[in-house]
Amino acid sequence: MRPLHLCINIFSGFIYEQQITMLLLRRTVQAGKHGRSFSASQTLLSERKGLVLGVFEKEGEEGGLYLTEAAAGFDQTLSGKLSELLKISGPTLKQGKSRIFYGIHKDFPCVAVVGLGKTTAGVCGSENWDTSKENIRQAMSAGCRLLQDLEVKHVEVDGCGDAQSAAEGAGLGLFQYDQLKSKKKNKVTTQLHGSADSADWQKGVTYAEGQNLARMLMEAPANHITPTAFANIIEEKLAPHAERVTIHKRSQAWIEQQQMGAFLSVSRGSEEPPVFLELHYNGSPDSKQAPLLLVGKGITFDSGGISLKPSPSMDEMRADMGGAATVCASIVTAAALKLPVNIIGLAPLCENMPSGKATKPGDVVVAKNGKTIQVDNTDAEGRLVLADALCYGHTFNPRAIVNVATLTGAIDVALGSAATGVFTNSDWLWEQLQKASVMTGDRVWRMPLFQHYTRQVTDCQLADLNNVGKYSRSGGACTAAAFLREFVTAPHWAHLDIAGVMSNKDEVPYLRKGMSGRPTRTLVEFAAGLVHKG
Ligand code: BES
Ligand code: ZN
Ligand code: ZN
Repeated sequence: MRPLHLCINIFSGFIYEQQITMLLLRRTVQAGKHGRSFSASQTLLSERKGLVLGVFEKEGEEGGLYLTEAAAGFDQTLSGKLSELLKISGPTLKQGKSRIFYGIHKDFPCVAVVGLGKTTAGVCGSENWDTSKENIRQAMSAGCRLLQDLEVKHVEVDGCGDAQSAAEGAGLGLFQYDQLKSKKKNKVTTQLHGSADSADWQKGVTYAEGQNLARMLMEAPANHITPTAFANIIEEKLAPHAERVTIHKRSQAWIEQQQMGAFLSVSRGSEEPPVFLELHYNGSPDSKQAPLLLVGKGITFDSGGISLKPSPSMDEMRADMGGAATVCASIVTAAALKLPVNIIGLAPLCENMPSGKATKPGDVVVAKNGKTIQVDNTDAEGRLVLADALCYGHTFNPRAIVNVATLTGAIDVALGSAATGVFTNSDWLWEQLQKASVMTGDRVWRMPLFQHYTRQVTDCQLADLNNVGKYSRSGGACTAAAFLREFVTAPHWAHLDIAGVMSNKDEVPYLRKGMSGRPTRTLVEFAAGLVHKG
């Protein structure tokens, strides 16, 4: 019998973006005692299977590495080859930096190793997020994308001791809206490496899928996602959960019957019929439990109406239904997770277009609660559709109301894309939202609801309220919130202005450029946090 003959050639030094050293190992294993033979090159071509592993930086030791449990296990099967290669292939992997090794394992032709930063990171008081979770999301996203670019078809992912965050990073990082392109990105399937933590992994997959649903709805063009199409897609997504879900796609006739004059004043300029989407998720074993009410602004395209927006970047206003998208996606996610809570979702869906029928600046309209509104700027339409939805929402006696809207450019000026602006009359609700966002890394920041701003919308020439603040641009996000408050009587209400976080350039490293789907995961985590709160 001939002995097993192993011949390894290592060619290193091919440096490729972000200090990725590629090591090419050519391995020939000749027939062993059972006559089996393994050709790495064959495996490379046919299976395209990859593995993403994490490594921590050792505390207080410059250049020291600390392998995750999965990476250490993998290293052991290779008799320490991985840690040896990590040492000789370049400087210590800092947080977010990566390196690929080829042909070191017969099952995984490509292995990406990514830096996770320090083990002690944890919740950071000044950043208002859990840095360890963010590092895992970022690292697993980066590793998966590297392998996707190498046309790897299936990737196993290191749980990194927090399989939910690892799955979120992988799922969010790989998402790309390329449905309408002829040339699509390589589709990659993922699975947890090893079997421990599979429940957490599945939870992370579901959270990421929720946010990706919102991203898809927001990114898709407005001629595809009309109010009717939006409602149909959500209905389809909820179909597998029909047992616990009721859907109403309310027509224009119903909206008229409800006397939603503010909503109708926005939809009037468009040829597309409005839809008032109403979702009931009955997850609580106590069917009488007061529901959480989520309300999302659903302007499927905001041209500004007669107060027409300038052309540059107007295309982005296809995502002006981001509130409706994140609210509906979080209800789909809550249903998939079978969260034991009751949630009602409302989405007033329409286009804001100029036409001979459109509302004109100075027109006065009447909201569902009888309040009159002077519409001085038809581009401040979000607050009009939300006003009627909020009035209607109160009829369900909700335990809390959270409305979500790409409401003002001013919130982007104030906070940029760092955090969603939250205006709330409830310290309790603020705490719940803030706690959820620390976990998800999709942050919130509290904004004021002073009477100072209320006076600027109630001091109105012709009506009870003006739809713009009297000092127009100053404090625009705050006057918009003050306007909404005029339609709220509930003690626990929060308005989330998401215009600043609507899209991503490169600020969130685990989201590609495009519409962000933020803050879907925070809404889901918030709803999950209400489970044991009565
Ligand atoms: N949909 C916009 C707000 C927006 C701006 C969302 C940028 C996402 C990115 C909203 O309807 C709007 O146009 N608001 C006006 C209000 C103003 C006329 C008082 C704004 O923010 O300029
Ligand atoms: Zn507008
Ligand atoms: Zn708008």
